[in-house]
Amino acid sequence: MHLPQRQLGLRIENMVTEYTATARAHSNIAFIKYWGNRDSGIRLPANSSLSMNLAALHSTTSVTWSDALEEDRLLINDEPAVPAALLRVSAHLDTLRAELRSTLHADVSSHNNFPMGAGIASSASAFAALTLAATAALGMRLSERELSLLARRGSGSAARSIPTGFVEWHAGSADKDSYAESIASPDYWPLEDVIAVISRDHKHVGSTMGHATANTSILQRVRVETAADRLLSAIHAILARDFEALAPVVEEDSNLMHAVMMTSKPSLFYWLPKSLRVMLAVQEWRRQGLQVCYTLDAGPNVHCICGAQDAAVVAARLKELDPDIEVIRSAVGGGAQLLTANDRTD
Ligand code: PMV
Repeated sequence: MHLPQRQLGLRIENMVTEYTATARAHSNIAFIKYWGNRDSGIRLPANSSLSMNLAALHSTTSVTWSDALEEDRLLINDEPAVPAALLRVSAHLDTLRAELRSTLHADVSSHNNFPMGAGIASSASAFAALTLAATAALGMRLSERELSLLARRGSGSAARSIPTGFVEWHAGSADKDSYAESIASPDYWPLEDVIAVISRDHKHVGSTMGHATANTSILQRVRVETAADRLLSAIHAILARDFEALAPVVEEDSNLMHAVMMTSKPSLFYWLPKSLRVMLAVQEWRRQGLQVCYTLDAGPNVHCICGAQDAAVVAARLKELDPDIEVIRSAVGGGAQLLTANDRTD
C-alpha cells in the first residue's frame, strides 16, 4: 500500500526536509544511588548504581530535525519550556549532533504522564526518551549500550531508563564503558513503588548542582568506597527475590546519600519533617511483617518499595498517617521504546 509521506513521518514541503521519531521511556527509582561525578562534563559517576524502572511514570518525546529551524525548540506538556530546560536539552542535542555528524536543529515535544512539579524527577525518563527519538529520527539504530551511554550524557540516571526492569549502571572508567544494563526483567520480581508525595515544590537545588557539591562532604569518600559492597548485596537480594536482605541495604544507601547531602558545603537538606515520619512508619510496618522499605532521591518524597502483595496496604496506611499525602503507585517498568520513526532518505 502506498502511504502518504506524512504518515511515514517524513515531510518535504517547500524543500524543507524533516526527520521525525517518537520514543517513550520510564522513570526509575535507585536502590543504590548515584551521587557525585568523577567527571561532571561527561557525567562519569563516582560509583555504580542500581534501580528499577517505574511502569506507571513515563515520558513520551517526539523529535523533528529540520533544516528550516535556526535553533532548537522545546515544548513540555504542550507549553514552551523555561529557558533553563531548553538550554539543557539543547546542550544534549549538541552532544547528539556531534555523535550523528548533523548540523540540523530540532523541534522537541515531550509529555510526562505524571504531574510535572509533583516532586518526581522527570530527567531520567525525559533524557532517555529524547536520546532514543533523536537518534532514531536520523535513521540511527543504536545498540542498548550505545543509547545508555548517550542518555547518560543528558542526565546520569537516564542511562538506567534505557534497559528494562531492574538495571545496573556500571560506573566505568571512561565515557565508553559507563553504561547501564538489565539484571532482571520487570516480571522477575513483582515489586511496587508506592510514592508518598510530601511536597510538590520544585527542588531548591537540582541534582546537577548537588552532584557538584558531593565531594565537599567528608562522608562522600566513605560512601563511594563502600558502594560496591552494597551494590553486590542488592543485586544478590534481587536475584534471590529476598526482601529481608534488600530492605536494609536500600535504606542504608539512601541514608548515606542524604548524610553526604546534609554534610556538604553548603549543606543540602531534602528531607522534611513529614519525610522522616513516613520513614519511621515504614520501618515500624516492616517490623510488623509488611514487605516495605524506603528510599528518597533529591527531594522530600518517600518511595516505599513494597512486595506487590503489600502495596495496597502500604498505600492505605500512608493515607491514614496523613490524608494530605498524595500516593502514586507503580509496578516495575520496561525499557525505552521507539514508538514511530521515519528513516533518513536523502
Ligand atoms: O540523573 P540525575 O543527575 O538527576 O541524578 C540522580 C540522582 C538521584 O536521583 C538522587 C540518585 C539516583 O541514582 O537516581
